Amino acid sequence: MAIILDGKKLADKLTAELKTAVSTLEKKPKLAVIIANDNPASQIYVKNKKKKAEEIGFESVVIPLKSDVTEEMILEHIYILNEDKDINAILVQLPLPEGLNKKRIIEAIDPIKDVDGFTSYNFGRLALGYNPYAYPCTPKGIIRLLNEYNINIEGKNALVIGRSNIVGKPVALMLQQKNATVTMANSYTKNLKELAINADIIISAMGKPNFIDSSYVKDGAVIVDVGINRINDKITGDVLFEEVKNKASFITPVPKGIGPMTIAMLMQNTYELYKIQENFIL
Ligand code: GUN
Repeated sequence: MAIILDGKKLADKLTAELKTAVSTLEKKPKLAVIIANDNPASQIYVKNKKKKAEEIGFESVVIPLKSDVTEEMILEHIYILNEDKDINAILVQLPLPEGLNKKRIIEAIDPIKDVDGFTSYNFGRLALGYNPYAYPCTPKGIIRLLNEYNINIEGKNALVIGRSNIVGKPVALMLQQKNATVTMANSYTKNLKELAINADIIISAMGKPNFIDSSYVKDGAVIVDVGINRINDKITGDVLFEEVKNKASFITPVPKGIGPMTIAMLMQNTYELYKIQENFIL
């Protein structure tokens, strides 16, 4: 039986630490979230982010925009937030409504306030192995959780399924920097099972419910499930947990795995950007 990688427990611990750190600050870190879609899942994510920020003692502001908002209006909000000395962190909730130029919108965020690490400045620094102002939250949460359980990454075969800018690409780069041998698979990959059964670590972010069954898993592998799939109002990961847990050495549950870690890292990033901007560290 695999050890459960308890993302919820670690996220709660990190949140409590942040709460203590923030309690002594006179000026509080402040997170701004722009949401321009009425996707119910996105609405819930944003609500949870605001709730967590407030629980820690951060200030936060949510800017809800109608899904017919123009690119120029979103850019105008970003320019104002960039200039606002009270705002430390800016997040534009994705996906954006169709027809909007995501690249132009994300690139408008001042890199020093780019709490997701999505701008080319921060992502480029990550790719080059330099410190970005912020690492993308989900990949950072994955690495932090593996670290907590002393899971060795160096020299391991890691398979990353999914190549999004939010999860797959950055986590592959971060694993590589920790000296893993990384394979990146996507929906066109022909021999996924063959790659999977040779992997010591699998990070699945493909969005196919229960797809990874035990026939994809090597004995003793480490399984990280980033999938959030809704089936009849129930959230299911990409991994067939009940089966795979008997074969893996470590496995994340869904929910209470990577999800809470992502929010915890968003909060940590907000605090780190605040410290940089307030010249605590340079
Ligand atoms: N949508 C899904 N995940 C994310 C994320 O990590 N950041 C933002 N901004 N939007 C998302």
